[in-house]
Amino acid sequence: MNYRDKVTIITGGTKGIGEGCVRVFVDAGSRVAFCARNQDEGDRVSAELNTRGDAYFIKCNVSKTREIENLIAQTVEKFGRIDCLINNAGWHPPHKPIDDFSVEEFRDLLDLNLVSIFSACKFALPHLRKTQGNIINMSSLVGRMGQLHATTYVATKGAITAFTKALAIDEAIHGVRVNSVSPGNIYTPLWQEGIDASDDPEATLAEGNAAQHLGRMGTAEEAGRLCLFIAAEATFTTGVDHVLSGGAEIGYGRKSRIE
Ligand SMILES: NC(=O)c1ccc[n+]([C@@H]2O[C@H](COP(=O)([O-])OP(=O)(O)OC[C@H]3O[C@@H](n4cnc5c(N)ncnc54)[C@H](O)[C@@H]3O)[C@@H](O)[C@H]2O)c1
Repeated sequence: MNYRDKVTIITGGTKGIGEGCVRVFVDAGSRVAFCARNQDEGDRVSAELNTRGDAYFIKCNVSKTREIENLIAQTVEKFGRIDCLINNAGWHPPHKPIDDFSVEEFRDLLDLNLVSIFSACKFALPHLRKTQGNIINMSSLVGRMGQLHATTYVATKGAITAFTKALAIDEAIHGVRVNSVSPGNIYTPLWQEGIDASDDPEATLAEGNAAQHLGRMGTAEEAGRLCLFIAAEATFTTGVDHVLSGGAEIGYGRKSRIE
């Protein structure tokens, strides 16, 4: 797949799925602007990738509207255009029942996972309309299925999938495609955080692998390749939620926790 002469913005590009996207898009010839909050991590990724392509790090906390505006403006200043926006930055808080989440925690997560995507789309669209570009929003399989003790996260992800469809309808007239990707289990530093926080890390990793019919988690590179396919090849596809799950959601299995 080839994305030469294109410009891609990837949020949360220093680790996990976002880093996988940065690597895959750089290798496909795209000039990439990517962001995260930590300058050193950004410098590490861009130093490595700039030996084989164009990876430009811009420090940005996506929970801050002004910093998102700056991310878009700096990208256009550097590369002159935007062809693809991948809204990937997001977080899954530790699992707990609703009683233990504060309202403030939910509001903060909405800002990070959802309002950031609305803002980045809003500021990038004037540029994407000029290039008839496309947007890919990182949702989650659990936004469709639900997940135990994850009310706040699931709410943000379900909203991303719905927002994507609504925006796809509005932007079709401008030739801009808007899609989402819903990963199941992709092995990333975020997943490792969950393993480390669990009572039995070995069992948690084994359960994570066994949740898929394919018997393993996906990789960040596999997520990057799906995003590249949507951006570069899937030119008749808009408003679609692309599940990337190794078959986690198909077939019946034990669900009840009632003894
Ligand atoms: N890993 C999975 O199994 C999985 C499954 C479904 C959905 N997702 C979604 O994929 C996305 C990436 O997940 P991951 O597992 O790669 O996570 P990760 O924690 O491994 O990496 C997240 C990246 O986002 C950046 N980031 C976090 N908060 C930020 C902020 N406020 N501003 C800017 N950058 C920020 C981090 O620096 C990092 O580069 C998230 O939206 C997550 O919800 C992941």
